[in-house]
Amino acid sequence: MSAKASKKAKAPTRKRAKEILREEAAPYCADPQSSPSEETDFDPSSPRFIDLFCGIGGFRIAFEGVGGECVFSSDYDKFSRQTYEANYGEIPEGDINDVKVEDIPSHDILCGGFPCQPFSIAGVSKKISLGRGHGFDDVKQGNLFFSIAEIIDYHRPAAFVLENVKNLKSHDKRKTFKIIFETLTKTLGYTVYTKVIDARSVVPQHRERIFLVGFREPRHFEFPDYPMAGPKLGSILEPKPDPKYTLTDHLWNYLQNYAAKHKAAGNGFGFGLVTKNDTTRTLSARYHKDGSEILLAQKGKNPRRLTPRECARLMGYPDSFKIEVSNTQAYRQFGNSVVVPVVEKIAIAVADALKGPVMGKDDFRLSLTEEPDEKSEAPDQKPVSYRSTKQTAKKKK
Ligand SMILES: C[S@@+](CC[C@H](N)C(=O)[O-])C[C@H]1O[C@@H](n2cnc3c(N)ncnc32)[C@H](O)[C@@H]1O
Repeated sequence: MSAKASKKAKAPTRKRAKEILREEAAPYCADPQSSPSEETDFDPSSPRFIDLFCGIGGFRIAFEGVGGECVFSSDYDKFSRQTYEANYGEIPEGDINDVKVEDIPSHDILCGGFPCQPFSIAGVSKKISLGRGHGFDDVKQGNLFFSIAEIIDYHRPAAFVLENVKNLKSHDKRKTFKIIFETLTKTLGYTVYTKVIDARSVVPQHRERIFLVGFREPRHFEFPDYPMAGPKLGSILEPKPDPKYTLTDHLWNYLQNYAAKHKAAGNGFGFGLVTKNDTTRTLSARYHKDGSEILLAQKGKNPRRLTPRECARLMGYPDSFKIEVSNTQAYRQFGNSVVVPVVEKIAIAVADALKGPVMGKDDFRLSLTEEPDEKSEAPDQKPVSYRSTKQTAKKKK
């Protein structure tokens, strides 16, 4: 039996992964007897990649930029698929739970910004208030990570790039992240690098997201630099936006009263009023509701919300990007997306790492790493990651 056929027979089912999840919240269990073929017979200057939870294709733009060829995409949202088709000429597959792992084409790089709702602070508090579980307890959504794990286990891509909200790292006293990290490293055997990146160095938006980059063989990899200083809002504004984006007196009064009420109660909630010299707050998928997180001050007028095109720019999408859905859907899609130039820099670094040599195990030392901005969080549960000795030596200089 070929290696591929034996993998097919032995690959654990997604149903089984869900059972494990429900029963004991244990990490995804790869079949220890499977002997995946670890060929490196691909050209790293034209890697085949897949775009999971593709949304409107932020990963796709970035990886096509390094010569990549997208061989599979999936998203179950009708309107995101519409935008995806308009821009890339292809309709993504639907719900990943309905796709058989063996029907996904083999690929060199797996990309996936898996849904963040179960892990985000907003998602968690909403679910708690609804009496539902969160993280891995959320059977329908929280286990989408295990769909990714299953695909990695079956196809053994040379690398993967995953993205999620920063809160993934601290969620459930870091247990969620620990399970994800250990599944990728210990169970699936990948060398994994993680970093929280703020997009403000490439777009005028404060947006922190965690990236996990993994390599099948141990490879030297460094996340690119993202300096704090970046462009300001003025650089992405349209010269003459439609007056409909200016808030009505009714909505503006409501937002001011709401903010005042919360301030009096000692809460920090409120609108985010900015000028063209500022960096905005994080654009959320709910921006279409009242636009309160990013309101642009205007002389002698109520503030206005950003137009969909300005939101596209705020997420680093080129002006050639087609927006053919309603404003509501467009705001939601950009608020859910990755910041394209952030991923473009990662894509270049991943492609470089794949062109470089495979390291010996001795070139790596096990090190404890901690994001400097998260020192206060559960210091007893630091994630473990590999850092190459080459990287350490460079840092010491
Ligand atoms: C955080 S967004 C990712 C956005 C994407 N990275 C981009 O650049 O636009 C997560 C996406 O996962 C999709 N999604 C959620 N559950 C899914 C499922 N079971 N199967 C396929 N797609 C799913 C959502 O529709 C959403 O577009």
